[in-house]
Amino acid sequence: AIRKPLIAGNWKMYKTGTQAVAAAKQLADLTQGVTGVDIMIAPTALSLPLMAAALGKDAQVRLGAQNIYPGTEGAFTGEVSGPMIKDAGADYVIIGHSERRQYFGETDETVGSKIRAALDAGLIPVMCIGETESQRDADKTFFILDKQVSDGLKGFDLGDLNSLVLAYEPVWAIGTGKTAGPEQVKEVHGFLRHLIKEKYAEGLAAKMRILYGGSVKPGNIKDLMHIEDVDGALVGGASLNPADFNKIIRF
Ligand code: G3H
Repeated sequence: AIRKPLIAGNWKMYKTGTQAVAAAKQLADLTQGVTGVDIMIAPTALSLPLMAAALGKDAQVRLGAQNIYPGTEGAFTGEVSGPMIKDAGADYVIIGHSERRQYFGETDETVGSKIRAALDAGLIPVMCIGETESQRDADKTFFILDKQVSDGLKGFDLGDLNSLVLAYEPVWAIGTGKTAGPEQVKEVHGFLRHLIKEKYAEGLAAKMRILYGGSVKPGNIKDLMHIEDVDGALVGGASLNPADFNKIIRF
């Protein structure tokens, strides 16, 4: 296939460094022999160097950060930059997660500047987008997604976006046990691929990975991965348990 699936775990603000290392080792054992899928875990930034050391440089389980500051260094108390994330052993960074948009004031504009910072540092950006329940109820889903993609990627050209991963996470499906139905997922993923084709190029659209996120579990991953244009998953709660996450990886 032209697109290699990516199964990514977002650990959010869970696990101490000690717990993160233990879970990473378990996951590395469990996933031995898995082929044809990229695996990523995004722990807190504190755990990145510990997990990188525990997993080793050539590990199949790759690491990501959950956030990035749009600048390389400076007097920005409490922030972490792209070069620091890269140096800590991560290959990816999740950008614009709905929790960051909801609780930490991130906008499509900050998302854009963070994507730029990620690319400058040689990190793969995982750009999160998705509508809230009230936006869906008001039939604004496609308008919102179009806006998030268009404004978030404003100023980027074709060559910038080769590595970019899109993650569609309907906000109402995050941590709620509600998954979007297959028709809803198919419709949105098809829309997003078409949008990338219209705004950029067919080649980019054909190779861009579009992940689904929102209450992905061992019991629903197979059906999700069968949906056209679904190239993987961004998993929250179920990624915390190595046995469950391994089952998802082995969809
Ligand atoms: O980044 C992951 C998403 O927020 C999904 O979380 O799998 O716990 O619903 P969840």
